[in-house]
Amino acid sequence: MRLFFALWPDDAVRAQLAHWSRELHALCGGRLTRPENLHVTLAFLGSVAEARVAEVERAASEVAPCAATLVLDQPGYWKHNRIAWAGASIVPTEIATCVAELRDALARVEIRFDAKPFVSHVTLLREAREPDAMPALAPIEWRLAGFVLVQSVTLPRGSRYGIRKSWKG
Ligand code: 2AM
Repeated sequence: MRLFFALWPDDAVRAQLAHWSRELHALCGGRLTRPENLHVTLAFLGSVAEARVAEVERAASEVAPCAATLVLDQPGYWKHNRIAWAGASIVPTEIATCVAELRDALARVEIRFDAKPFVSHVTLLREAREPDAMPALAPIEWRLAGFVLVQSVTLPRGSRYGIRKSWKG
């Protein structure tokens, strides 16, 4: 089963992110992330054997759920993968701590994950063109109260994400 840990927006934050997506789409084109799939990935596990999911959940239970306010105030664009994203000029230390604790807890029980350094971002568009300049967008204030374990299911129309379990702060 394909799994990842994420920060999951509430409906109000999701609506604001969807608004950013549409504004950026007007400039860069590309494929919009479906609003119900918008998130920040904390740790990407990829394929995990069904029998090990309970261990993944136990490891996550040792981590203090991140409580902080994340202000998304910076749209960004990565040339190497043609992704346009929503980012934060200041990432609260609580998030970096939560990611480090989560990854340590997974490593202790030998659950593998993508070890690329964490870069706080919400993917808004894929296969997007690089804009001449990023637009000014209204900052989004996101009060974080925990994290979730997400299962990704690949459907003919793209991925669908379902929350398996939440840890609330
Ligand atoms: P992205 O949004 O930057 O593309 C589900 O695939 C989520 O996990 C996406 O948010 C994706 O990031 C993230 N992710 C992180 N590492 C990944 C990897 N090695 N393969 C696929 N997705 C990964």
